[in-house]
Amino acid sequence: MLSLAFKCLLIGLLCLSPKAEFRENSINLVPMDPLSPKKIQLSQGDDSPVNIDITVTNSKIHGLRNAVATKVNLIGDYVIKGKVLILPIQGEGKSNITFVDVTINVDFTGTPVEKDDGAYMKLENFHLHVEPKFIIYKFDNLFNGDKALGDNMNKFLNENWKEIHNELRDSVDVALGSVANDVIHRVFTKYPYAKYFSE
Ligand SMILES: *[C@@H]1O[C@H](CO)[C@@H](O)[C@H](O)[C@H]1NC(C)=O
Repeated sequence: MLSLAFKCLLIGLLCLSPKAEFRENSINLVPMDPLSPKKIQLSQGDDSPVNIDITVTNSKIHGLRNAVATKVNLIGDYVIKGKVLILPIQGEGKSNITFVDVTINVDFTGTPVEKDDGAYMKLENFHLHVEPKFIIYKFDNLFNGDKALGDNMNKFLNENWKEIHNELRDSVDVALGSVANDVIHRVFTKYPYAKYFSE
């Protein structure tokens, strides 16, 4: 009976055992750096002091493959709308959200699924948690390109990154978690789990 409960770091997982001869493409592991998810969406309801929707498309995420990363960059084209700690915010353009000195934790349960060629591992209850020391926000072209307003808002966001992140953290974890989940899921659907975790 195979029953696995892992609590691990992302890179720990990916390095746990893939046998040395496995190349990244042979186990379906897409290059982790950068990741290019189609869309990242962060949103927070209106019961929060940070009531915003941020959508980032054409995005690239650098750094997520490290369990402890000096920087995780989320770069892309953003659309933002809402209110941040009483200030209205609105804009569309290029964005760069950088998580500095971040610890990444991944938590999931692996359930065995029997197939003809062996037991495959199915990921369940996948949670990713990022804990940054601080965050640098940079949104170009806020408020239809009004530079003074945009500069002030970026400054405000950076001065209040902590309060903002406290409100957005679940949404950030879910968004980045679903990206990581896809990557890992693809790995474990390729081969029976014994291929990865040999004695
Ligand atoms: C994003 O911002 C970080 C922190 O300011 C910076 O180090 C990095 O070079 C920026 N990346 C791009 C592509 O602008």
